[in-house]
Amino acid sequence: MRSSMARTGATLVALLLVVSLPAYTHAQNTLVKERDINTKKILVAFFSRTGENYAVGHIEQGNTHIVAEMIASATGGTLFRIEPATPYPDDYRACTEVAQREKRSKARPALVGDIAAEEFDVIFLGYPNWWGDLPMCIYTFLEQHDWQGKVVIPFCTHEGSGLSDTENRLRTACRGASVLNGLAVRGFVAQNEREKARKLVLEWLKQLKY
Ligand SMILES: Cc1cc2nc3c(=O)[nH]c(=O)nc-3n(C[C@H](O)[C@H](O)[C@H](O)COP(=O)(O)O)c2cc1C
Repeated sequence: MRSSMARTGATLVALLLVVSLPAYTHAQNTLVKERDINTKKILVAFFSRTGENYAVGHIEQGNTHIVAEMIASATGGTLFRIEPATPYPDDYRACTEVAQREKRSKARPALVGDIAAEEFDVIFLGYPNWWGDLPMCIYTFLEQHDWQGKVVIPFCTHEGSGLSDTENRLRTACRGASVLNGLAVRGFVAQNEREKARKLVLEWLKQLKY
């Protein structure tokens, strides 16, 4: 008699578990997902050059830097400037020549300072389009870090070429990361039509759910 009561009790407990576990698990999953979104650590790392540039004349703040600040301010991300140890020439033509030489020789210019990109979950990565590629100092930065499991979101400024093939180059360079499709903004727009640039940035972030 007592053992049959115990059996009935155990069956009831098992039944209750079967009925309530899926709902409990679902609630837990929802909580985990929401918490993930709210606690993702965001880095906005960028390289940008001041001095004389195409279409904008002599500038005090680089075009990509302006877009990077917009992204950091909208997402609450940490802003980090990738800075070559030897600055690029102020003169536009001289700079294009240095950049072309670096690209041909696959140079990896040394950088000043670094940030532990590994401590972030999502990395917005900004750069100007240089000769249809990433500036070589971006490769230096990428090769200094482990991208496994990260979400990398590219953005670039340019004067007609858009992102070129840089998203795919990033997919190769950031092994183990998920590299999303990027945003391309004309340097002239970032520099001289800031509200237009901000609108582009905010619409793009909204699509990405940031
Ligand atoms: C060395 C160099 C190479 C460039 N190559 C290209 C290019 O291939 N395609 C393009 O659309 N713009 C090119 N540009 C223009 C830059 O992408 C554009 O001015 C960008 O907004 C500069 O960003 P920054 O001010 O953040 O450095 C080049 C500029 C420089 C200095």
